[in-house]
Amino acid sequence: MFPKIDFTTTPSYKYLADHFISINEKSIKDLFQDDPARFEKFSISFNDILVDYSKNRINEETLALLFQLAKECKLDDAIKAMFAGEKINETEGRQVLHTALRNQSGNAVLVEGEDVMPQIKAVLDQMKSFTNRVVSGEWKGFTGKEITDVVNIGIGGSDLGPVMVTEALKSYKTRLNVHFVSNVDGTHIAEAVKDLNPETTLFLIASKTFTTQETMANANSAKDWFLNSEANESDVAKHFVALSTNEKGVAAFGIDTQNMFVFWDWVGGRYSLWSAIGLSICLSIGFDNFEELLKGAYEADVHFKETAFEENIPVILAVLGIWYNNFFDAESQAILPYDQYLHRFAAYFQQGDMESNGKYVDRNGNRVTYETGPIIWGEPGTNGQHAFYQLIHQGTKLIPCDFIAPAKSHNPIGNHHQLLLSNFFAQTEALMNGKTEEVVVEELIKAGKSEEEIEKLKNFKVFEGNRPTNSILIKEITPKALGTLIAFYEHKIFVQGVIWNIFSFDQWGVELGKQLANQILPELSGDEKINSHDSSTNGLINQYKDWR
Ligand code: F6P
Repeated sequence: MFPKIDFTTTPSYKYLADHFISINEKSIKDLFQDDPARFEKFSISFNDILVDYSKNRINEETLALLFQLAKECKLDDAIKAMFAGEKINETEGRQVLHTALRNQSGNAVLVEGEDVMPQIKAVLDQMKSFTNRVVSGEWKGFTGKEITDVVNIGIGGSDLGPVMVTEALKSYKTRLNVHFVSNVDGTHIAEAVKDLNPETTLFLIASKTFTTQETMANANSAKDWFLNSEANESDVAKHFVALSTNEKGVAAFGIDTQNMFVFWDWVGGRYSLWSAIGLSICLSIGFDNFEELLKGAYEADVHFKETAFEENIPVILAVLGIWYNNFFDAESQAILPYDQYLHRFAAYFQQGDMESNGKYVDRNGNRVTYETGPIIWGEPGTNGQHAFYQLIHQGTKLIPCDFIAPAKSHNPIGNHHQLLLSNFFAQTEALMNGKTEEVVVEELIKAGKSEEEIEKLKNFKVFEGNRPTNSILIKEITPKALGTLIAFYEHKIFVQGVIWNIFSFDQWGVELGKQLANQILPELSGDEKINSHDSSTNGLINQYKDWR
């Protein structure tokens, strides 16, 4: 296992702290002026993806020190440990092998001495044949009709990845309409099935554990809805399949385990879209495209595993994040895709990143003395520009942003894509350069303002700039390119977790709320007043009881 190092005690951390003082005085604009080759130096192309990280508050020394930091934290060993199937998820005693799900090297991947590649292949074959049968219409519902609608019922990692990918790749859609139900709020399932026909609807119950409250509640309601039609219990097999690691749970729910697509406990929920959890993706875009997605991720894995840190995209993105999080005290990281199809990308990585690295206990079991995972947020451009960009440009908080855009649109209508991309290019330039007082005054003079008016207005119109961004330009959002992009972000999260010395693959922080909800649930049944909690919780529960 790789060592558990407090990165703030490394020599490079101390150098970085000193180096920060000098970089903090420089503007990105000046750094560009000082170095005409800055773009060439600080950008990398990988397949059809260009990652430009030149508009950051860094110079060559910064990066050299950050790579040194990664080395002193034994990132090399950590990467090897993950790919080799060591139990790096120590608190759950598990391997972390989502990379095996997309491994196309032909090499074995061992778990407890056994090669898992044949099992992975078998499930992929099962997914392929099922997808082909459903898409072609060969798979029939209980009245002999073809399936037209698929409803994936799952939450967290059993929902967000499939939703994000099916939305991102909507232009590759098969004839099936795929819907997603996650929230335990009955509104979600009610609205989802409202216009569906039980005869032509297929439910995928997606849950790694098959115990998750929300998913079980929605699955049961889906079954009730189905059985409320002409269908009977024996028809369930034609309309319900399970994606899970829990065979017993699936059988207990009443799904024939013949109709189960398995995965394994070494696949983390938020890293599971590559597993059987991806069945909704297969049905939505076809199996060949799902394979392309896996291929893209595999190529990113090889890049991550084999490339020197200096040229390694996930490592670069990760250390830049560390630079802002731990030296500039940035609290959040925005992900801003200039692609409507990627509208759930930030939401997906909210779970990916925040459930992985939102932790205050280090790998030694001690409270950390430094900041760990940032708040991840974002919406597609250009919508975000008319919502929260004000704060990014002129707010008091430093918000490093990742801008992502495709060069080619799947919907080349008129000049929409040029309009979109002109905004994509303009924003990072504006965030870097800002607008000086001089320029503001000049503009106001040109607009015919009086000296008094100019004096009154000018401060509001100045942009200090110097706000860091990465730009990720992708030739086209194909399944393969998307697979690569997702895997880059996954590995970025991993690298940051290693440097922060935290366990990125458990999620104990979600348990307490679940436990308390289970305790409160029976208290909501009767009409009697509740007094077992603090006065606020009692007051809220009792008011709810009065009003319902
Ligand atoms: O929210 C906690 C969590 O355990 C996530 O990590 C997971 O993705 C989600 O719940 C769903 O879990 P399951 O797939 O077991 O239903």
